Amino acid sequence: DHRDLHSFPTRRSSDLMKVLITGGTGFIGSHTVVSLQEQGFEVVIVDNLSNSDSAVLNRIAKITGKESYFYCEDICNRDALKNIFSEHQDIVAVIHFAAFKAVGESVEQPLKYYHNNITGLVSLLEEMKSARIPNIIFSSSATVYGQPENLPATEDSPVLPATSPYGNTKQINEQILRDFLLVNQDLKGISLRYFNPIGAHPGGLIGELPIGTPNNLMPFITQTAIGKHAELKVFGNDYNTPDGTAIRDYIHVVDLAEAHVVAMNALLNNSLKENYSVFNLGTGNGFSVLEVIQSFEKTTGVKLPYRIVERRPGDVEQIYASTKLANEVLGWKAKYSLDDMTLSAWNWEKRLSEQHFSYDDKV
Ligand code: UFG
Repeated sequence: DHRDLHSFPTRRSSDLMKVLITGGTGFIGSHTVVSLQEQGFEVVIVDNLSNSDSAVLNRIAKITGKESYFYCEDICNRDALKNIFSEHQDIVAVIHFAAFKAVGESVEQPLKYYHNNITGLVSLLEEMKSARIPNIIFSSSATVYGQPENLPATEDSPVLPATSPYGNTKQINEQILRDFLLVNQDLKGISLRYFNPIGAHPGGLIGELPIGTPNNLMPFITQTAIGKHAELKVFGNDYNTPDGTAIRDYIHVVDLAEAHVVAMNALLNNSLKENYSVFNLGTGNGFSVLEVIQSFEKTTGVKLPYRIVERRPGDVEQIYASTKLANEVLGWKAKYSLDDMTLSAWNWEKRLSEQHFSYDDKV
């Protein structure tokens, strides 16, 4: 029986607010569990470990000194969800991270993405409704904006046709949530549109754990610096940007995690005007690929071998967030700099390599 694998038998009941985190052992999920526990929430994690490691649970507990309830289950499994909600009738909210996220793979295997990401949300909402759980936060993405005509991208910038099934699942899921909440006014939800989350918890105990060769910039940089790849390929230097390389709004994953706690409190305190809201989560600053490399070299003292190659198909030229809404309505603002992000990502990579890319403390 894998249920409650991670809770101590001596656990005492308390009046802490309990939240369910789907995908809680993943990159953003694990950092959010830490933030929630640090802010006094009790956490139930459901994750099928399809792209994460159960040892993350011990790492979270090492950081916060608190245990999580853990269920190794697929959120498409309605019976599993029913069971979790009936065992934890005091859950006040759900933060929904569990999804596939590889853009290229989604082009190759669209049904895998449509099935998992969309059925996952639908089954979660149905079970939340029958268990009368009133609050949900959904992990959306700046990918819904495509290449905006005007920058920074505000929450009112048009949602452009998605260029991948992955991106399409984010758009569809936002619509599902909006439609569902329109006719369920007693329930509340928020979609958080993440820009480019990078970095790791400063202690180096949790971070991003890409399976196979990473597609994203930051893990490719750190893996190249540690010697796993000969060089970084910089995709294009002929963009209409100051140094010719593409611009993104990188955000420290710890800032992003804390934004979830702030958003959660806004839901629980009934402080939002509408029962469905959308917020960008970024720093508001755009950095080019070359600027990220420069920050990495400066903070770590490691020289990064790289080469300019062709543009990567599907990439946008530049995007960064307007952070006004999250700032004014939620009172949230990112705190960490690009240097904090690149240094923490490097410390995490070094910790991983010391463990030969496996955890030594599997649950
Ligand atoms: N890049 C490189 N070399 C690499 C990897 C990336 O030059 O090896 C560049 C990209 O071309 C881009 C920037 O680094 O200019 C950032 O690339 P990432 O892959 O890290 O991030 P993206 O902005 O492409 O992807 C992010 C999210 C996706 C989302 C996508 C939508 O990771 O989930 O935005 O644009 F779908």
